[in-house]
Amino acid sequence: MSKEMQLFKLCRSSFAQVRFIHNAPTANAAVAEAKKEKAPKIKTFSIYRWNPDKPNEKPYMQEYKVDLNQCGPMVLDALIKIKNEMDPTLTFRRSCREGICGSCAMNIGGTNTLACISKINTNVTTKIYPLPHMYVVKDLVPDMTNFYNQYRSIEPWLQREDADKPKSGQVQQYLQSIDDRAKLDGLYECILCACCSTSCPSYWWNGDKYLGPAVLMQAYRWIIDSRDEATSKRLDKMRDPFSAFRCHSIMNCTKTCPKGLNPGKAIAEIKKLLGGVATKPKPQLDPVALQK
Ligand code: SF4
Ligand code: SF4
Ligand code: FES
Repeated sequence: MSKEMQLFKLCRSSFAQVRFIHNAPTANAAVAEAKKEKAPKIKTFSIYRWNPDKPNEKPYMQEYKVDLNQCGPMVLDALIKIKNEMDPTLTFRRSCREGICGSCAMNIGGTNTLACISKINTNVTTKIYPLPHMYVVKDLVPDMTNFYNQYRSIEPWLQREDADKPKSGQVQQYLQSIDDRAKLDGLYECILCACCSTSCPSYWWNGDKYLGPAVLMQAYRWIIDSRDEATSKRLDKMRDPFSAFRCHSIMNCTKTCPKGLNPGKAIAEIKKLLGGVATKPKPQLDPVALQK
């Protein structure tokens, strides 16, 4: 065997030994670590229960204990774990689990928020209720019928006189300047979770006639859209003592919004338009200019 080959073999075997010696304790420690059971980290959730199939049974709070070492970090993770492993009768809404659909809105530790983006508080027992002052369908599921009817009432779509008359052979599109488009920022992101409306004392007491912050903010989203031509009609529908003017600027709505939006400000803008203190600016771009 040549000297070079001997040297190569020697180096390779030394390297293998070094690697083996170096890895051995690390691997052993990892196995030991895996075998070692983590001490359970127990957290108590106290959850509102009500079953419509037992109408004579009053609502009550039920406690569940969850090992946080075996659970994801968010309140929705704990609810899903409870439902999957402890009590399949526990009822709540959820869908996207990333703060987009608004389904998992509930009152957690005294605040209206989304369970899927609420980190579990490890210090205290967490109380969970359905959104306040709503009829309850079951457990944590509120009845959203009135809320959605109110949303329907503001006709949340673009309205134009020429909407039904597209030019032949053309796809109708409406132009908007960059600045006019920016006026929709902070409005269009609303996911209609109803956390704001159900935190509003005025909505609690007058929710049949007062539209509430979520729906009013959506109304403003269409009122201020430079392409929409139904501004007067939209505002006229709110010219009564209840629809918009039951807002007393307490700002619970803005404080609680889990998306960081400001419905209180949008309502203030509507009040300015209704009171004639402000007017909707003219569109910076003629929405159909290039299609004539
Ligand atoms: S404004 Fe915020 S709290 Fe209110 S419905 Fe929209 S996302 Fe939810
Ligand atoms: S600002 Fe208006 S809408 Fe918001 S919580 Fe107060 S009264 Fe309700
Ligand atoms: S599950 Fe969709 S917002 Fe929480």
